[in-house]
Amino acid sequence: MEMPSIPQPTFYIFKCEQSSPPGMPKPSCVNENTRDLFNHTAQSLMKTGVMGPVQIVRTSCLGRCQMGPLMLVEPGHFMYSSLTKEKIDRIIDEHILGGKPVEEYLIPSTFWGDPINLVK
Ligand code: FES
Repeated sequence: MEMPSIPQPTFYIFKCEQSSPPGMPKPSCVNENTRDLFNHTAQSLMKTGVMGPVQIVRTSCLGRCQMGPLMLVEPGHFMYSSLTKEKIDRIIDEHILGGKPVEEYLIPSTFWGDPINLVK
């Protein structure tokens, strides 16, 4: 008898959770004003009933610190920048639930060019 397969998640959200020590000149995604964005995202996903099909993952630096707070939505390499709770809720509503990325919240293309091709 064939076993049913476990479905893949629909989306992964990689939320940068890097914080710099006080006095560090480089900005970081998590500071005293932004430290609750991960929990806010998780709670919003739970409220909308999509925690599970949507996996949220804490990451360290995603390499675009000057544009933080950041989160990367996969599939598709959608990097959202300068996040707030309101922006996250709209991204969940329109991108995650509605299938339409929120273009105006995506990181500018000068910071996010095409992927590097490693195929030889
Ligand atoms: S600290 Fe978040 S991208 Fe570097």
